[in-house]
Amino acid sequence: MKILGIETSCDETAAAVVEYSDGGALKLLSNVVASSIDLHALYGGVVPEIAARSHVESIQPVIDQALDQAFSGVGGVNRSQPWEQIDGIAVTQGPGLGGSLLVGVMAARTLAIAHSKPLYAINHVEAHAYANFITEIGSNTQKAKSKKGAGKTPYANYHLPTTSPEFPVLGLIVSGGHSQLVLWRDHFDYTLLGQTNDDAIGEAFDKVAKILGLPYPGGPSISKRAQEGDPYKYQLPKANISSVSPALAELRSVAKEIDKKGHDEPSDSYTTHSSPPPNYSNYDFSFSGLKTAVLRLAQAEIGADYSFPSHKVSEKLSEAQKTDIAASFQRVAIETIVDKTTAAAQEFQPKSIVLGGGVAASQELRNQLAKKLSKNIYYPDIKLCTDNAAMVAALGCFKATLKQPSADPYSLEIEPDLGM
Ligand code: KG4
Ligand code: ZN
Repeated sequence: MKILGIETSCDETAAAVVEYSDGGALKLLSNVVASSIDLHALYGGVVPEIAARSHVESIQPVIDQALDQAFSGVGGVNRSQPWEQIDGIAVTQGPGLGGSLLVGVMAARTLAIAHSKPLYAINHVEAHAYANFITEIGSNTQKAKSKKGAGKTPYANYHLPTTSPEFPVLGLIVSGGHSQLVLWRDHFDYTLLGQTNDDAIGEAFDKVAKILGLPYPGGPSISKRAQEGDPYKYQLPKANISSVSPALAELRSVAKEIDKKGHDEPSDSYTTHSSPPPNYSNYDFSFSGLKTAVLRLAQAEIGADYSFPSHKVSEKLSEAQKTDIAASFQRVAIETIVDKTTAAAQEFQPKSIVLGGGVAASQELRNQLAKKLSKNIYYPDIKLCTDNAAMVAALGCFKATLKQPSADPYSLEIEPDLGM
């Protein structure tokens, strides 16, 4: 079973081929990503119109390259007939930018009709977690070179897990667009434990970087800067949210019922459940207050009040102040998600914890989680943390093998606000 994945939800045009083999292992046969990030860096954030136009230009060459990389010269397969090898197409339907999603979905619909392949609609956030199910790599992917490396730097030095995550799986998906904690009892059977009420954590990194005058995207530039800073120099607030989402409330009441019956339920019982630790009635996040606190701190550090324009603050901050603010912000932002993940792990006792999204690349996150949790923690390779189509194809493989319904290629619509 080989699935072509297509991803265009934000500023990366991506296509990949993943193979599902007997026993459930996923092998990465190709992974191609064309990013328009350099174009957006000029504006300090993604410009939707530029992203959409860039997808239109890149989508066809990216798909061609993914098919070529997957099949050329492998096992005598004729590279002029890659479509004979493909069993289905998986495409990101949402959430994401409308104009961007449209390009990928229309390309996938057209190819599904032209080549008579089943089409699978993929939730981008769910797909981020599925990057962790890829455990093997094809010989061509291994040899592929990065565009920049021009034959010098091997692009495909992938660090993959040796085994697939085991259910129940707790997923932390953290990126520029999402901050979600999800509990999977099995494939396609999950509960959203919590999500952000406002900014995503990656968005907070991007906005704080802008305040400090550090380049976009903010995550990598803040983490680089933070290495030399004092993470305890400044005190910054952690949001305290009191509401409990209906899905979490229901999960707890079902778990309580099972507890009452003394765990004599069959194996489809919800999952192991203990009381949440004190102060953890819910798993929602909020990062906009932290971002504002950084702005107020920076204004105070330069002796100005709240009316001082945010885009001029960085000119007045010393390099030492920037470095210490970056380190303190990073510590608090990462502590927030690590605290909630640790609490959810205590409450729901998952067998594996999987990370996904651009912020999963953060070394600070990895260090803090390793100190708090002795569980099986899965981090995707850095190239599979940020947006890519391998994760989309990976989820598509399970949709196809577990007989999930396919989408109608004549009518599949984008869902920019798709939730979990
Ligand atoms: O998954 P992704 O490529 O795109 C979205 O779906 O949003 O994630 C991009 C986000 C950006 O906000 C970027 O600042 C953040 O991931 N990021 C990081 C790091 N590397 C990327 N955040 C913190 N630390 C990092 N090392
Ligand atoms: Zn993403």
